[in-house]
Amino acid sequence: MIAAPSAVTTPALDVERLREDFPILGRHVRGKPLVYLDNAATSQKPRSVIEAVSRFYGAENANIHRGVHYLSERATLAYDGVRERVARFLNATSPAEIVFTRGTTEGINLVAQSRARTTLKPGDEILITGMEHHSNIVPWQLVAAQTGAVIHAVPLTDAGELDLAAFDRLLTDRTRVLAVVHLSNALGTINPVRWMISRARERGIVTLVDGAQSAPHLPVDVQALDCDFFAFSGHKVFGPTGVGVLYGRASLLAAMPPWQGGGDMIETVTLERSTWAAPPARFEAGTPMIAQVIGLGAALEYVESVGRAAIGAWEEELLAYATERVAEVEGVRLIGTAREKASVLSFVVEGVHPHDVGAVLDDEGVAVRAGHHCAQPVMQRFGVPATVRASFAFYNTRAEVDTLVRGLRRVRSVFA
Ligand SMILES: Cc1ncc(COP(=O)(O)O)c(C=O)c1O
Repeated sequence: MIAAPSAVTTPALDVERLREDFPILGRHVRGKPLVYLDNAATSQKPRSVIEAVSRFYGAENANIHRGVHYLSERATLAYDGVRERVARFLNATSPAEIVFTRGTTEGINLVAQSRARTTLKPGDEILITGMEHHSNIVPWQLVAAQTGAVIHAVPLTDAGELDLAAFDRLLTDRTRVLAVVHLSNALGTINPVRWMISRARERGIVTLVDGAQSAPHLPVDVQALDCDFFAFSGHKVFGPTGVGVLYGRASLLAAMPPWQGGGDMIETVTLERSTWAAPPARFEAGTPMIAQVIGLGAALEYVESVGRAAIGAWEEELLAYATERVAEVEGVRLIGTAREKASVLSFVVEGVHPHDVGAVLDDEGVAVRAGHHCAQPVMQRFGVPATVRASFAFYNTRAEVDTLVRGLRRVRSVFA
């Protein structure tokens, strides 16, 4: 659902050629060619990312910000260079607004513990939505228990969209934080976060966008969104695990205390007291995930070389095709039929547990996710224990969708 400039000017992707950049896509599982449709859980890695990590360990490994020697200087330059690349990727105003984390989960916990725990008062309200991943629910529950704040959640419509009239009612004079997912991992819904943020900012509410799923699929411009915080994970944007990004508005980061203490986050230390480094170092205590950050840099470079508009245009076409084909299978019910969707197709097959659907598909070499997708409130809302989720990346093909559909017909015949 990336807004492509136009169908005429967006170059078509050469998907078959791009697939060759991903060594794992050429492998077989259970004797069948791998059809990898679990991209919302984690994406596969192009050779350039694998080589960047391997090259770092093989030829450049050193700790950063600490040594005067050649390798340490090189590693420091590479690490800080990725911060600049991430700032451009998100259109942040400065690299100082980019904090490296372990992933989306850690970014949200950082905001909850550093900003919310130190500012919320009993009775203050945190507004989330009914389609959040657990990592945008539980950190707020922890901070609510610590501060006496109260959590409210925007309900969902039957299509899996946010009830925006309810959202407006739930924004009150006590709301202090709005934390909302950009693109739902369980439903595929793209939320109107820009509009929601503008409503929140009229009331001086701090806003956080969970961008775990949007960063790989939608263009993200934090200045246009006007959000205060935006979190995403490296492993979902074709980079390594163990690294993520928290964008924070400079004025807010500057006012936040550290949430972890250790090396690299201080200005001065005596045995009695310490003073803090300026952001982002203030929030990066200890030796960071240097190789993973370098891998993330290679991943973002790769995504940009493919072209975000072209990726979006192809994924939109592929999702439309998959939605139509999967819905044709007898007994399939789609969960999540929002008007604005990207990359995720969640469904149940009448009379068959999603885990059994997943097992039959696995036998065909098709990797999907079957479960609650760390979004149990979504399952509760739709009255299902779990769903089957096919989630796409730009390297997926129509032929792979056809394999999925053949697998689903087999599910029907096995369990009929
Ligand atoms: C929407 C959403 N938010 C947050 C997360 C958590 O990401 P991570 O486990 O990489 O921290 C995920 C992961 O699936 C997600 O899909």
